[in-house]
Amino acid sequence: MIKRNILIAAAFFSFSLGMAQQYGGMWIPTELNEKEMKDLGMKISAKDIFSTTKPSIKDAVVQFNGGCTAEIISPKGLLLTNHHCGYGQIQYHSTVQNDLLSNGFWAKNMSGELPNPGVTVDFIVDIKEVTAQALNGTANLAEPELSKKISANIEAYKAAQKTEPYQSVMVRSMYYGNKYYAYVTETYKDVRLVGAPPQSIGKFGSDTDNWVWPRHTGDFSMFRIYAGKDNKPAEYSKDNIPYTPKHFLPVSIKDKNENDFTFVFGFPGRTTEYLPAIAVQKIMTDTDPARIAVRDVALKTLDEKMRTDDATRIKYASKYASVANYWKKWIGEVEGLKKSNAVQKKQKYEASLIAKNPEIKTTIDGLNKLYNDQAPFALTNAYYSEVVRNAETLTLANLYSGFVTAYEAGKTDEKSTTAFKNRLSAFYKDYSAELDAKVTAKLLALYANKVSSQYLPAGFEKYKNETQNLQMIEELSKNSVITGRSEVNGASLSSTEIDKAFSNPEKLVKAIKKDDIYQLFTAMKEAYIKNADAQFTSIQSQIDILQKKYMAQQMSTDKDRKFFPDANSTLRVTYGKVKGSTPKDAVSYDYQTHLAGVMEKYIPGDYEFDVPQKLIELYDKKDFGAYKDKTGDVPVGFTATNHTTGGNSGSPALDAQGNLIGLNFDRQWEGTMSDINYDPRFSRNIMVDTKYILFIVDKFADSKWLINEMKVVK
Ligand code: ARG
Ligand code: GLU
Repeated sequence: MIKRNILIAAAFFSFSLGMAQQYGGMWIPTELNEKEMKDLGMKISAKDIFSTTKPSIKDAVVQFNGGCTAEIISPKGLLLTNHHCGYGQIQYHSTVQNDLLSNGFWAKNMSGELPNPGVTVDFIVDIKEVTAQALNGTANLAEPELSKKISANIEAYKAAQKTEPYQSVMVRSMYYGNKYYAYVTETYKDVRLVGAPPQSIGKFGSDTDNWVWPRHTGDFSMFRIYAGKDNKPAEYSKDNIPYTPKHFLPVSIKDKNENDFTFVFGFPGRTTEYLPAIAVQKIMTDTDPARIAVRDVALKTLDEKMRTDDATRIKYASKYASVANYWKKWIGEVEGLKKSNAVQKKQKYEASLIAKNPEIKTTIDGLNKLYNDQAPFALTNAYYSEVVRNAETLTLANLYSGFVTAYEAGKTDEKSTTAFKNRLSAFYKDYSAELDAKVTAKLLALYANKVSSQYLPAGFEKYKNETQNLQMIEELSKNSVITGRSEVNGASLSSTEIDKAFSNPEKLVKAIKKDDIYQLFTAMKEAYIKNADAQFTSIQSQIDILQKKYMAQQMSTDKDRKFFPDANSTLRVTYGKVKGSTPKDAVSYDYQTHLAGVMEKYIPGDYEFDVPQKLIELYDKKDFGAYKDKTGDVPVGFTATNHTTGGNSGSPALDAQGNLIGLNFDRQWEGTMSDINYDPRFSRNIMVDTKYILFIVDKFADSKWLINEMKVVK
């Protein structure tokens, strides 16, 4: 009996830690591991998830504005995505008098919904493998002819497809160019804002809690897709009608339990799971730490000012959040790679492949050599790109340098100049030359100290001291055209001043080229391009050729493994179980957070941890309606073992029946190395609980009319 139990336990263990859980996986929806999903608890079939002959779940999942994911949750085209995905639109409708970011927004009915020019959602109508067509006639070709022929094949394939006028066809390479897939997409262009909670719910915890579990963010917002009278895509018109979807997701408010089956359906952006050990090692020891170091300096300098000056905080809030987002992710990634012994694991894997197929040794040796050769250039590339991105004086100089080059080549016209001017005024709007001088002074010093002298312009050693740099920048800025303190352009560049400056482009280009700050930047850029970037890129193209070969060899040699292609912003399914985690010795996390935790984190008036009065009242009165769980409290967030990445924000998390149970918005810090090395011990995705979403819509926002549209599963 005991023995039998052990056997059952072992079988269960290997089920729940089967392939999908060992390796994670972001599967193309036409190639699902239906059996494995069913073994893990799924009750529906692969055809219910993706079908071109009947309505399926894929008809309710869209790419939101080219980046995030969103899903349809009512027969009237009601769309759910993250607050941080709809942030730009919420901000677009906000004014100082009517600050929707701070106060939230809830349309009272459909006529109160707000249009968002330019926002689109894309449906995937069909997916086909087209490897044979893409690689036709390429067997004996080498680069660069190979790439040319493939592009021509793809163009020919696309041209031969018969699609509706509102559809398009795109072809994407998978497995580093070993396979190709075609997607038919349909784009809707009238997407209106329906509702968003205040930031103190939708962005609760902000940067401090970002990537962190336990989490208490109500990171959601709602939109609606509108269509022409025929339900087909149409440009915005007030006469458009709410879109009737082929399928919409029922919303479950059932209690969750640990080990419940779940899957996530969305558009993950980019992963690199099949790199050789050497590449992972370089990321871990070289490029991630370099990027982190640059951002450390920038963030610290900005934070000091933002904490003491409200105007600066508002100007820099969004930039700060975006710089901090990947900074924090990389820190977690490096720790996770170390802790999961990613490099040793990959080395062992390589040895096991070589044992089966000795030819692979040549590939691995080649990759080792190339990555080692590339290392100094790759490190310089990491420093250069991060310094230019974060030292805004240099970012500006880089922008101007693009303009100068185009102007001198006779390639500027009215349209491109207007676009450039708009870009500049958007930049200057949220820019403080005074604060950035401090950041730039420090980052120039970092660049001079960290980057080896052969990649620097002659005489760059003089920038090793940040105090002297600051004096220098402040001095030069007094007369700089580009940092906006010039006598030519006045103290700050408003759009009128920009117009004035550009009214005589010839004079402007002359002034820019004479500008000392501009010259400092162009010297830096030229030295980098000539001595590092050229080598970096040419070695990278050799790496790409070998990586394609290594990918093919992994797939043909490792017969036991089920391969999935790295994320590339195409539609994927990942699955797993609702699960807590034990990221550190003696530390274990529950899979679910509750409203009580929001109240524990509450700091009155704080810009990250304030809580709206009404939410406090609902909590005090325990006015939870149907949305509390077995604990008597409202569940807020939960974690699972789904393998997700950036772009999965806003993706639906579904249960065994295909009902919506959560809204994906983040990952747990300790597991962010899953982009390179998924590890079921640490990798968890973080979702907002549907109970919390409906609780906020119903009880907090008094928007029952939206709940009434949905199919709520109790
Ligand atoms: N970490 C999440 C993602 O990668 C959320 C980012 C937005 N939130 C923030 N606090 N910056 O996109
Ligand atoms: N927040 C991410 C996004 O915007 C999702 C988190 C992740 O990287 O997994 O897509």
